[in-house]
This record gives sequence, C-alpha cells and structure tokens, in this order.
Amino acid sequence: MYQPSESSPTSASVDLTALAQNVAHVRRLAPRADVLAVVKANAYGHGAIEITRALQQVAVRRFGVATVDEGVALRQADIQDAIVVLGPTMPAQFPDLVARGLTPVLYRADLVQAFAATVKPDTEPYPVHIKVETGMGRLGVLPRDLPELLSSSELRRPLRLEGLMTHLADADNRDAGQTEEQLARFQQVLNQLQERGVAIPLIHVANSAAIIQYPASLHSLVRPGIMLYGYHTLSNNTQDPGLQPILTWKTTIAHLHTIAPGSSVSYNRTFIATRQTRVAVLPVGYADGYNRLLSNRGQILVGGRRVPVIGRVCMDMTMIDVTDVPGVQVGEEAILIGQQGSERITAADLATWQQTIPYEILCAIGSRVPRRYLPLGSPAGEASHTR
Ligand SMILES: Cc1ncc(COP(=O)(O)O)c(C=O)c1O
Repeated sequence: MYQPSESSPTSASVDLTALAQNVAHVRRLAPRADVLAVVKANAYGHGAIEITRALQQVAVRRFGVATVDEGVALRQADIQDAIVVLGPTMPAQFPDLVARGLTPVLYRADLVQAFAATVKPDTEPYPVHIKVETGMGRLGVLPRDLPELLSSSELRRPLRLEGLMTHLADADNRDAGQTEEQLARFQQVLNQLQERGVAIPLIHVANSAAIIQYPASLHSLVRPGIMLYGYHTLSNNTQDPGLQPILTWKTTIAHLHTIAPGSSVSYNRTFIATRQTRVAVLPVGYADGYNRLLSNRGQILVGGRRVPVIGRVCMDMTMIDVTDVPGVQVGEEAILIGQQGSERITAADLATWQQTIPYEILCAIGSRVPRRYLPLGSPAGEASHTR
C-alpha cells in the first residue's frame, strides 16, 4: 500500500471538534447510557484509528467494530479500551480475538462452547455479549432458545456474560410498528431474566435512529454509528440541529478547456454540449469512491455555486460544467461534500442522487483519498496530519 501524500489534490478533512459535539448530542439524548461508538468500516470511511483516539479524548471507552481484523488494527494502534466485534465471527478467528482481548458477540451454543474452549481456563472470566434476534432477521438467538443458551455453564466460567443486545431493523422508519414489536420482544426477554434473577451489566439495543426517536430503546449502553459522523436516515430527512457532518471532501481543478456545441465529454458520449461549454476536469473518480451513478446527475461546488457533473464519471477523473461560474482557474477548489459560501452538498445529497444511504457514500470514500484531521478544539479550516 502506498501512502497518499500531503500534496494530493483530492482529500477529505475530518473535523474532530464536530465529532465531539455529535458525541455530546448522543449523551444529551441518552444521559444515563454508556456509549459504545461504532467505528467499523474504517469509522464509516473517516479513519478508524484517528476517530477512535479522538473519541477517547471525550471519554468514550467502548468501541464497536464489525470484524476481528478491524479490532486487531485498533489494538495495533495501542487502543486498549473495550472493543466489541459486532459482526459474526468464526471459531477459526477465536484465537486471534482472544489474543487481542476483543469481546465477541455470540448467538449459538456451538459458538459459546468453541469460544470457551479457546479461552484459558485459569484466567479472569472473559467477557462476551449475547445477541438476541427480535426481528432483524440476521444474527441472534431466538428469545425461546435464550434460556437454554444462558444456562451454558461456560457463561459463568471461563466466560462472563457482560452484555445482552438486539438490533433494530426499522428504527429510521416513520412507521413505528416494527420497532415497537422488537422493543416489546426484547423487553419480555429482560423481564424473564429479571424474574430469574439474572443480572447483565450491559444491555444494548439503540443505534442512531433509535437514540433519536425511541427513548424506550435506551438501556445501560447505546451503539451510535452514523450520528457520530453527523448524519441520520430518519424519513423526515431534515438535518438534526444537534448533528453536524464531520467530513468535507474536496478536490482541485486540474484542467480547463472549452468545447463547442455538438462536442461530447467522457466515455460513450453521454454528454453532448448544447452551447459553448467551459469544462473543468477534476482528479477524482469512481476509484476514489465518487460513484459512476453520479454521471450526468451529481453536483459539485465551485466558486460558491452548484455545477453539474457532465458525462460519465471515469475511474480517476470527473468533468463538470463551469460555464456559468465566472473566472474559474486551474488549481481552484471544488467541493464534493461540504460547504462553500452559502451552498452545501452533503453525503445525504449524494445518496439521493445515487439512490442509496449516506452510510454507503461515506464508507465508499477510497483509500487513495488522504484524510486530514482538524484537531479537537481547533477552529474549522486548520487541518493537522494526513494519513
Ligand atoms: C449491531 C450494530 N449496532 C449499531 C450500529 C450502528 O448503527 P447506526 O450507524 O445506524 O447508528 C450498527 C451499524 O450498522 C450495527 O450493525
């Protein structure tokens, strides 16, 4: 792997002060819950190590990743706090998971047994979380099978049942039906455990959408992901004033030329000029995560104005029509996600144009794009190190 350089014309800057403000918003909404920050998928594209370190500075002490390898990468960066591997893990991964002190999520008796067999019997009981399936149709033990699973002697030694969780399928929907059913099923499970005198320290259900709109989903721990990065996918689609997008993605105009009416731009001639057109070439393409679906559909900010993407987005270049922006120069900044003057383009806008969700837009920003960080407490605009 190469290291993207400081001089790269395309980069993403991540505002760690805005990240801290989003954490404060989570804490305002869930004042009694501890926070497990979801930093999987390279912290939704923002850079897992830098984001995790910044979150540590605002006293977040639990992190969620999807895979063992993501957890190992955080340990290699000397992150010693609790790391829960939220995704499925296979017994072949258990030795690595234990060697790094990661916390697994288990949901079947064979996994509990295989995991217990990996843990050294003479050490402190090893914390594990159990996932209950309440309606996501993905991972989890069914509520009716939970009592038998919890009766496994391994969950007392060499393991320790630290957490019980479920995941909501539809918390961002306007219709509360599915979420209320899931919350009711989970509550029934909790009631039964209470009747049997089983106390589990960490109970967790709420993702970002649930933190925002389901106070009943808040237990001792919450699992925010997308809201840490400033977005939500609630159906009203308005910006939550407590959340600020933390990432700006920018590039630089590499070349300008003018084409005559009838001339075309990019592969397969999907854009034909109907007027004399000033074309700016941007050094960013689908290999950087600027999706090909944005061809002839996306907008970019130049000189404080929205301008259209013209022709097919290429692997490494994208063309825009800057005819209506006076005085555009080579070397001038172009904003793919972020603010310029009074105009703003968000990952949610790109998601609308691509018929997807902001999660995918952010996760897709490629490894070729250096991330620069505005340190905690710094005024916006002063990027620190590059990765
Ligand atoms: C198990 C689990 N918990 C929490 C989250 C965070 O969700 P969100 O980013 O919607 O807050 C995810 C992400 O998909 C997840 O898989």
